[in-house]
Amino acid sequence: MFQAALRPQALKCSVARTLQASEEARVTAAAKLFPGIKRLSERVLVQGLGSRVWDADGNELIDFASGIGVTSTGHCHPKVVEAVREQAGLASHLQMSVTHHDRALQLIERLEPYALGLDRFFFATSGAEAVEGALRLARQATNRSGVIAFRGGYHGRTAGTLAITTSGIGYRGGNAGPLPYGAFFAPYPGLGGDEAYCKEQLDLLVKQQVAPSEVAAVILEPVLGEGGFVPAPHSFLKHLREWCDAHGALLIADEVQSGAGRTGSFYACEGAGVQPDILTTAKGIASGYPLSAVISKAEIADKQPPGCMGGTYGGNAVACAAAIATLDVFEEEGVLENVRKQGQRATSTLNALKAECPAVVDVRGPGLMLGVEFDRSLKGFAGEVSRECEANGLLALTAGVHEACRLIPPLIVNDEDLDEGLSIFADAVKTIADRHGVSNGEPKPHTTGRPAVLRGLTGGSSFDGA
Ligand SMILES: Cc1ncc(COP(=O)(O)O)c(C=O)c1O
Repeated sequence: MFQAALRPQALKCSVARTLQASEEARVTAAAKLFPGIKRLSERVLVQGLGSRVWDADGNELIDFASGIGVTSTGHCHPKVVEAVREQAGLASHLQMSVTHHDRALQLIERLEPYALGLDRFFFATSGAEAVEGALRLARQATNRSGVIAFRGGYHGRTAGTLAITTSGIGYRGGNAGPLPYGAFFAPYPGLGGDEAYCKEQLDLLVKQQVAPSEVAAVILEPVLGEGGFVPAPHSFLKHLREWCDAHGALLIADEVQSGAGRTGSFYACEGAGVQPDILTTAKGIASGYPLSAVISKAEIADKQPPGCMGGTYGGNAVACAAAIATLDVFEEEGVLENVRKQGQRATSTLNALKAECPAVVDVRGPGLMLGVEFDRSLKGFAGEVSRECEANGLLALTAGVHEACRLIPPLIVNDEDLDEGLSIFADAVKTIADRHGVSNGEPKPHTTGRPAVLRGLTGGSSFDGA
């Protein structure tokens, strides 16, 4: 892993310091941001390298947020930086509705081996745009309008994606306006009930809310991200595949967060042995450059009329070059193996914390999509842990409306950075547990083991990120 050879301390932002705004200009500008944007911290970051970032005062932090699961190859991986520099000097933007461009075509060739047998590609810039594209495609291909999504799911903030997002009420805060009709919600296993109950509810849904013949697609995150980092059982994903086939609906896997290696296989569906009809990918795919994709079976995509898909910046040449370099790093540096190895190491450290600290009730993977859930009766606990981590040099976010933290380090994280970050996290959990009077050895106030399902979706401390 590249950052092992570098000495991040030596950096101390020498380059960034010359580019920095003054403290006064920063404060003035920050006050002008839309208050609708929420953030973990008011700290101002100026530089990143590998799994570490530096703020404007030269403080170093370990980054287990990765720009919300984006900096897959770490900050400023030399191969990605080089590819971006090279492409920026060749052509920064070549528009895909004007002509083909070489980088996008190369990227298709490179992504196809990972695409679970899907072989039509559309490039966009954000995850939400990809999900919008997937929903449109499913509706056009089936000539149906209903979409079944899962309670607790997050798919974006555009009107179409917000209509199927239920991970937290904050996203619809205030009067977000009428959202498109046609969204129906089923419970997500592990969050809304056990697997058998969730299957039953899905069947009930097409008896009570929408006729099966009107369902264009079932969309789910194979590992629920923003809603709490909860993996769906592989057997449930297989069931959904069969269920969709039985009802003539399409299966859309939203792998915006779980894709691009985050779970230890390139896509989480691969781990489950399930082929979706349509897949969305973004975030880590280009190491931080804005790129997303809808990937589909040919017979579905080929039903679209020309002109209905596009976007000015979709498939930007520099972003495509960054994605190709990201795949180079994956293949040359064994990134997926590293995700599996570090995921196992992290899981065993976090399970040791769980055994020691009664506030921790669940540790979840897979890979480096790590969720740690605290007793749900400890209101505000996860948010407090997250802030305590930040104060002590670790960026770690919360997830969902229950008391959970998510740890999403760069996929290239090495032993040293992982262990140091986990140690800050463990200390923070113990400090906050003390503050809540949940000391070592005391019985857990309510839950033990895996959190009880079917509890009300109340309380929580979600970071309203993405
Ligand atoms: C599963 C999933 N889908 C869609 C999105 C939306 O992506 P973006 O924020 O790039 O629009 C996200 C963002 O977190 C996500 O996790």
